[in-house]
Amino acid sequence: MYQIIAKQKLNHIVEKMVIHAPYVARKCEPGQFIILCANEGDERIPLTIQDYDREAETVSIIYQVVGYSTKKLAEKEVGDTIAHFAGPLGVPATLHAQKRVLGIGGGVGAAPLYPQIKALQEQGVSCDVILGGRDKDYVILQDEFEGICEHLYFATNDGSLGTNGFVTDVLNQLLAAGHVYDEVIAIGPLPMMKAVVGITKPLEIPTMVSLNPIMIDGTGMCGGCRVTVGGKTKFACVDGPDFDGFLVDFDEAMRRQTMYKKQEEHICRMKRGGENHA
Ligand code: FAD
Ligand code: FES
Ligand code: MG
Repeated sequence: MYQIIAKQKLNHIVEKMVIHAPYVARKCEPGQFIILCANEGDERIPLTIQDYDREAETVSIIYQVVGYSTKKLAEKEVGDTIAHFAGPLGVPATLHAQKRVLGIGGGVGAAPLYPQIKALQEQGVSCDVILGGRDKDYVILQDEFEGICEHLYFATNDGSLGTNGFVTDVLNQLLAAGHVYDEVIAIGPLPMMKAVVGITKPLEIPTMVSLNPIMIDGTGMCGGCRVTVGGKTKFACVDGPDFDGFLVDFDEAMRRQTMYKKQEEHICRMKRGGENHA
């Protein structure tokens, strides 16, 4: 059992939890994730390791409440326990030594971006970051990024914070203004990462993306997280989740991500019904 040490609401659907998980905290690196079951017998859900403290033996996760399992997790409070917390899983991000890196985080994509930018900054790399969201409430981790990047830019769909538009609008503005980056790290919804690569690929700015396909076992056995990268089949749980964005087949990844939408909605309705009748 893994105890919840702290819990914080970041906006009305996104929360952060600090979990006491000594083994994960000791071994994890930026780019890795865990798979948890909120309660015994619950569905397994993958979540990125947003931060860790090796001395305190804690790991932070940030989750958006989107369906049944994230709702179950959100019902837990400080002092409660999480039944299973397996990890660290996935390959640590390859943090190429660079002079200037641009990080782009869309919505909860800011969570996996944070440890990578933090590690780069600790290695002496100068980092700019663009954070995006539907409106200013959906932009998370502003204070944390302020402390580790040189310039922080924002894009919101309603203009309530930063540029009125998308993170790609800010990216275009920065490139047009002559900013030069050795690498871009883009993490967020698949259409966002595809759009970023649409800009960076013709300009040959190496771009890493983080894929979040459906995962079940997280050990390369079930095939659920299959993605195509450079024409080859890869399993995001053991070969990723970070990949060279120029090589990712985003259209296939987008098709596969929504494959079980009907079943997920059905389960959510069924379980809600069951709870109401209990
Ligand atoms: P459901 O109603 O079951 O599903 C809602 C949507 O979530 C689905 O349409 C699908 O796109 C996705 N999803 C559902 N089940 C899975 C699954 N088993 N694996 C992957 N995606 C699934 N979300 C965060 O909010 N914060 C994170 O830091 C984060 N990190 C992730 C890291 C990785 C490597 C992966 C693969 C996913 C990550 N996700 C993260 C997505 C998160 O796992 C899903 O939002 C969660 O599983 C939804 O569960 P649900 O039952 O609440 O929703
Ligand atoms: Fe099963 Fe990756 S989650 S192979
Ligand atoms: Mg689910």
